[in-house]
Amino acid sequence: MNKNEIKVFCPATIANVSCGFDVLGLALDAVGDEMTVRKIDTKGVYISKIIGQDIPLETEKNVAGIAGLALLQASDYLGGFEIEIHKKIKAGSGIGSSAASAAGAVWAMNMLLENPFSTIELVQFAMEGERLASGVPHADNVAPALFGGFTLVRSYDPLDIIQIHTPKELYATILHPQIEIKTADSRKILKTTISLQDGIKQWGNVGGLIAGLYTEDYALIGRSLVDHIVEPIRSILIPGFDDVKKASLDAGALGAGISGSGPSIFALSKGEQTAEKVAKSIKEVYRTIGVEYDLHISKVNLEGMKNLNP
Ligand code: HSE
Repeated sequence: MNKNEIKVFCPATIANVSCGFDVLGLALDAVGDEMTVRKIDTKGVYISKIIGQDIPLETEKNVAGIAGLALLQASDYLGGFEIEIHKKIKAGSGIGSSAASAAGAVWAMNMLLENPFSTIELVQFAMEGERLASGVPHADNVAPALFGGFTLVRSYDPLDIIQIHTPKELYATILHPQIEIKTADSRKILKTTISLQDGIKQWGNVGGLIAGLYTEDYALIGRSLVDHIVEPIRSILIPGFDDVKKASLDAGALGAGISGSGPSIFALSKGEQTAEKVAKSIKEVYRTIGVEYDLHISKVNLEGMKNLNP
């Protein structure tokens, strides 16, 4: 193994998971970017190649670059890093494209430096990438990308992230309609206040979801996958959202909602077979909508980042 170079799999993620806007997220196995990071003598972070997407190579305009610079500034390493990114997650998809790049870069750099930083510190660096991408340094994509499984951001100040137990049979079906919704735009349309009544329903569901995950109570997980606050507003931007959600539930999904800031829609199911049935029923709906789409079925990824050349 070359000690100066590492190739990593950077998972896609589902943020919010219906009830947990900006606090809940989970990592996926079947979708993710690949990134090669190597140490170089020149100080700084340089993006040498991006395959698969038309995004800026300039370090300051690139989420991996910005996150990498945050790590470099906090480290006593005198050299720099060169990054090649193979984007497989499309930008503006709602499955954590910017998070995969930002988190992947800092995880790889930390490995090359022999792990001077803790995972929570890496989350903090990666959040700078999210700040660049959406204007807000939210952690609900980068935390599961780095920790794996389900994560809860209990607090942003101070940053406190809890890894949540993930039931083994939990599968996600993800529909990605081929339209782009920028997180910054889909945050602008949200109200900045909520009613006490909606708050009560929402934190009841967050607690229920966490309890359901720990006790592997799939029915409780399903009952808790409800969003009274964000989904009613954002779902208007997503073609066929209500029909896809209904078809998923009819096919046996535990629950369904918007993945991150959309347009992707996710459904969680118990077992791979049900997740496949859900995918089939979503296809039926989308046949009539006339928008191109990608469809993924994935187990929850318990590891987070993966070293592809150990
Ligand atoms: N919590 C963020 C949002 C996730 O919904 O705006 C973005 O992927």
